[in-house]
Amino acid sequence: MAQLLLDQEKVYDPVLRSVHLWNALAILLLLIGGRLGEWLGYTPEAASLRYFHVLAGYGLVLGLVARITWGLVGPASARLSALWQPRAWWQMLRTRDLFPAPVGWGHQAPAAALYLLLYLLLLGMAVTGLALAAIDQGSGPLYLWLGHDVTLKHLFREPHIGLSHAVLFLVVAHLALLILYEIRHGVPSAQAMLSGFQYRKADREVE
Ligand code: HEM
Ligand code: HEM
Repeated sequence: MAQLLLDQEKVYDPVLRSVHLWNALAILLLLIGGRLGEWLGYTPEAASLRYFHVLAGYGLVLGLVARITWGLVGPASARLSALWQPRAWWQMLRTRDLFPAPVGWGHQAPAAALYLLLYLLLLGMAVTGLALAAIDQGSGPLYLWLGHDVTLKHLFREPHIGLSHAVLFLVVAHLALLILYEIRHGVPSAQAMLSGFQYRKADREVE
């Protein structure tokens, strides 16, 4: 029986992979802690939870700064420009093929669009979160502008919670799409941010 071969290429560098892991862990903690905080309301337990939520928040802010810096100085596959693929997006919309077969190495166009949207949302979470940390806990880089000014809290709290639902949705979509991608195109994908390797179907077969 003929067997399909896979080409393998080392695509994602260790810095990008470590930043991905760091950010993914921080976001999971923030999602879980944020939900628990809402559920507990204004109790003493919730107050300590919010303190740890802000610590994880600073972790995410550091991770985002690291990702942007690496996106400016890192290798081609980590560059921010590798996420900006307007031509491929236009092609996808024209052909109405939102799940095209993989072309070349690195982020595929639909995934790149999802990641850009996720980063924009995360920047929104970071700005509103830092504002809330200054207002609620009198800490962080925005303290000088907003420190303990509770009259402004509603301006940041509602958007912070609203955006957190969108973050949860995109994280679930990210994981579901990685699995669907493997099933539809028959190449291992989810492991790429751990091992650094991507796989593509080779043009040749073995008997
Ligand atoms: C909270 C959880 C997660 C978040 C927020 C997240 C977020 C992201 C982001 C933002 C990227 C773009 C990377 C870049 O900056 O260039 C990415 C890529 C990727 N992530 Fe995740 N991720 C999460 C969990 C996971 C898990 C559990 C896996 C699988 C084990 C995974 C596998 C991947 C892979 C393989 C890519 C690259 C895919 C491609 O080639 O386009 N992620 N993720
Ligand atoms: C993925 C990122 C994030 C998610 C999903 C998230 C989620 C949430 C949620 C659901 C709440 C409401 C819970 C409550 O009532 O206590 C909340 C509150 C809060 N968040 Fe975040 N958050 C994120 C990032 C951040 C960051 C980066 C910071 C700051 C460094 C931050 C600081 C805060 C603060 C201070 C509150 C308390 C607001 C209050 O007292 O009502 N968050 N977050």
